[in-house]
Amino acid sequence: MRALSDQIILREARSSDAGPLNEYIRETFADANHLITRAAEFRMGRWRQRFWIARKQSSPYEICLLATSGDKIVGMLDSWTDRRHRVRHSTCFAMSVAKDWRGRGVGKKLLLHFTEWVQKHEILERIELHVHSDNLAAIALYRAVGFQEEGIRKNAVRYEDGRTVDDHIMALWP
Ligand SMILES: CC(C)(COP(=O)(O)OP(=O)(O)OC[C@H]1O[C@@H](n2cnc3c(N)ncnc32)[C@H](O)[C@@H]1OP(=O)(O)O)[C@@H](O)C(=O)NCCC(=O)NCCS
Repeated sequence: MRALSDQIILREARSSDAGPLNEYIRETFADANHLITRAAEFRMGRWRQRFWIARKQSSPYEICLLATSGDKIVGMLDSWTDRRHRVRHSTCFAMSVAKDWRGRGVGKKLLLHFTEWVQKHEILERIELHVHSDNLAAIALYRAVGFQEEGIRKNAVRYEDGRTVDDHIMALWP
């Protein structure tokens, strides 16, 4: 097994990542069972992706972080924030790591980088996330970084085979 080397680079997405990022997202949605969006529901073309990345780059409240190995995207974390004054101290994010790279520290590296970014931010104070109750790897990662369970949306997610699972809300004040 390849060790996670220091060759993994974390950086913000740029518009030239649009094509490879779409490919990464399609592959990840197809193989990760704990994401809401299914591969067939992801229909963003390269130009819309460029626009989406540009919006993240220009927003001081949001970020799209990539983990790369050489020229390959191996992980992604993106955040979004409701800018209304009463709630703009709180930001939300989603993340994933490419199948072959899971369990080697890429996810933790991405998440720690993001929490440091929030820590330095002038307005953002709280990080919120949503995770399916059966996504044990993700819950273990979030707990390891210090996130705490704050709430449960009972049976909020229904899988294709009819099973439902709870949606856990977790948060961290970094
Ligand atoms: C969840 C996910 C992002 C974790 O990324 P990762 O790179 O595999 O995680 P790391 O290797 O950095 O692991 C960090 C910690 O998480 C925990 N962890 C990771 N995988 C685990 C597993 N399969 N079982 C139990 N704990 C696990 C461990 O506590 C680990 O800490 P340690 O290295 O000190 O033991 C990754 O599994 C993934 O992309 N899953 C599919 C998409 C997804 O579910 N995204 C989250 C949606 S909420």
